[in-house]
Amino acid sequence: MTFKVTPWEVSGDLDYSKIVKDFGLEVINEALMRRIEKHAGELHPLLKRGIFFAHRDMNWLLDQYEKGNKFFLYTGRGPSGHTHLGHLMPWIFTKWLQDKFGADLWFQMTDDEKYVFSDRLELEQTKKLAYENALDVIALGFDEKKTKIFLDTEYAKTLYPQALKVAKRLTFSTAKATFGFTNESNVGEIFFTSVQAVPAFLPSVIKGKNIPCLIPYAVDQDPHFRIARDILPKLGYYKPASIQSIFLPGLKGGKMSASEENSAIYTTDGPETAKKKLMNAFTGGRDSIKEQKEKGANYSICPIYHYYKQMFMPDDKELAELEHDCKGGKILCGECKQKLAGRVADFLVDHQKKREKAKSRLDKFLIRD
Ligand code: TYM
Repeated sequence: MTFKVTPWEVSGDLDYSKIVKDFGLEVINEALMRRIEKHAGELHPLLKRGIFFAHRDMNWLLDQYEKGNKFFLYTGRGPSGHTHLGHLMPWIFTKWLQDKFGADLWFQMTDDEKYVFSDRLELEQTKKLAYENALDVIALGFDEKKTKIFLDTEYAKTLYPQALKVAKRLTFSTAKATFGFTNESNVGEIFFTSVQAVPAFLPSVIKGKNIPCLIPYAVDQDPHFRIARDILPKLGYYKPASIQSIFLPGLKGGKMSASEENSAIYTTDGPETAKKKLMNAFTGGRDSIKEQKEKGANYSICPIYHYYKQMFMPDDKELAELEHDCKGGKILCGECKQKLAGRVADFLVDHQKKREKAKSRLDKFLIRD
């Protein structure tokens, strides 16, 4: 079984236990869950259900927190198009962490990255998309007093000197081995990871003292932070702690793909468009109704089921019933999709209202030089 996970390409059949091993992650165990629960007062479904499944240095981060050394959160978005529901997953979890731990959030919009890595997008476009994507971040309800959103190109005067410090300590050979660059890669691509490292220590630079950092993301972003963890101590800063999630799968089976519109639901999709995508999705169902009623379906490979599990069915009892009914052939795929379409439509209508309202609040969140 072969697969590939880099920030710019996810392909093949993902084997998360191999990813843990290859990337040098630690699986989140019971003891760590209890520790998080102790401070948060509850566990978010994304944690309880193993969607956020791995970490680095979370126990160290909580040691610091218990000593009164509060951490800040850092996450981001590469604005290459509209936001899809998969992107929202780490942000929803980040919002929960902000609420429970009273943490500041630094949110990076890498309009520079999406320009240098794209053969179709101009810088003006990635910048415009960053503003679109920022509306989705704000719509999720982040605390305006504790959240800063910035575009790399608009915050460059602050970011650039720090990025240089990282870049000077990163060889081409390490960047090549980590990201798979070749002689054909442009030099903007090779430099870029230095920029993504900066927010992990920028608050420490600004405050003039070391502040612990926690970065939530799906595993594709991990290569950046392996490099950051290697270099930051050389600059006198803490290694950033991190917490990783699996992916929300594509609706056509496999991963979501930007080139296949129907593999993802975008936050800007109307409810009818979303419904159409869901009704045409791949499922774990059988070839005929008769066969499904007799033998049941396979929910573990079904994107519809994973949409419920990861985002649209927070009630554990309801999810257990769905699993039972699916396996036992009691519920058919059409009905299951229809029900999900209703929930997704409700979510989209509500999110789009909040997204509209966010337009007048952009300036409360955005920072520039
Ligand atoms: P980007 O825009 O590719 O993705 C934004 C966030 O969404 C996660 N993600 C997913 N999560 C669940 N299911 C999916 N199908 C899915 N697809 C993407 C990504 O892991 C990411 O957390 N270079 C970054 C932007 C960035 C960043 C950061 C991300 C800058 N600094 C710090 C995380 C942390 C990017 O292009 O993300």
